[in-house]
Amino acid sequence: MKALEIKKGIYWVGAIDWNVRNFHGYLTQRGTTYNAYLIIDEKITLIDTVKAPLVGEMMQRIESVIDPSKIDYVVSNHVEMDHSGAIPMIMEKTPNATVVCSPKGEKGLRAHFKKEWNFKTVGNGELLDIGERKLNFVLTPMVHWPDNMVAYMPDEKILFSNDAFGQHLASSARLDDNYSLGIIMEEARKYYANIVLPYSSQVRKVMEIVDTLDIDIIASSHGIVWKKHVKDIIAEYKKWASNQTEKKAVIVFDSMWKSTESMAFSLYEAFEEKGYKAPIFNLQHNHISDIMTEMITAEYLCIGSPTLNKDVMPSVAAFLTYLRGLAPEGRKAVVFGSYGWAKQNIKVMKDFLTSFDLTAEYNINYIPSDDQLKEMKEDLKSKI
Ligand code: FEO
Repeated sequence: MKALEIKKGIYWVGAIDWNVRNFHGYLTQRGTTYNAYLIIDEKITLIDTVKAPLVGEMMQRIESVIDPSKIDYVVSNHVEMDHSGAIPMIMEKTPNATVVCSPKGEKGLRAHFKKEWNFKTVGNGELLDIGERKLNFVLTPMVHWPDNMVAYMPDEKILFSNDAFGQHLASSARLDDNYSLGIIMEEARKYYANIVLPYSSQVRKVMEIVDTLDIDIIASSHGIVWKKHVKDIIAEYKKWASNQTEKKAVIVFDSMWKSTESMAFSLYEAFEEKGYKAPIFNLQHNHISDIMTEMITAEYLCIGSPTLNKDVMPSVAAFLTYLRGLAPEGRKAVVFGSYGWAKQNIKVMKDFLTSFDLTAEYNINYIPSDDQLKEMKEDLKSKI
């Protein structure tokens, strides 16, 4: 396994996780990569590492350039173990190296690994001189954990952005001029919707800083390196972080005997007639992380479940739990379903949706008649 030089003296030395399909609940159909970068300068610097089980791959790539014992700085932009997991193995090879991280990064790394490494903490805007080049650190708390920071290299116009701008995408291609832009963007959108979304207010602040930087390359810690489409991904991040929506309603449901399903299709007709896109997701056949990717630009969420044992279908509860954690802002909701003798379904779903503006709710006993479906459709059309 070899390193790939992305700019003179700067190498991608990460690992490709071809088969991972579950990233803490997120369906990663296309696998992922953990991107580490080796900078050859007076002080040899490694930016981030990889998930521990893939350390052998990273070591081989580093060894194709230099002896790992020569590394002087190990920059840890983020403590989460997909990036820090191999730091203990690197530090065994180069025990006198200095670990460079944010103050919260030091706390996190000590708590994770219980090691007395040489730590150097950096503050916002602090410069680290590595020889011909410098690294300028920007603390980016909560993008994705409290410890996060990014490293900007002004001499080469590279932003080492860690989780920001990443995508879960395993590929032999490393740069965005060598892969389908549609797929990269789709995976970047999915990554934002499932990882970054709850921290959109922090992302907005980071975007203000990004606007002041002259960037040729965004070297994130997952997926493809941005080079040809730097402006495009920055523009998309600004859009996602600002909660811009389009005329779209995402309709999500589970159904026992197709009553709730027939209501979902009536809602679809109402939105369609009002000029909305309205993708429909039966939770029996769709993964919650794919639904979140659609939610990122949706004005409405329509969520439906019959009552099951004074509650909702487990798939609906799982989706609503996941959605609540990701906390999309400024959205509207329609809640619907059918019931037999207990009407709790609507209340249970509404309790999850306290941050949504409720546009309408529909609960129909047993099987909806054609008239009831029509009435529901017309009522919703009058409210959207
Ligand atoms: Fe890719 Fe928050 O770790």
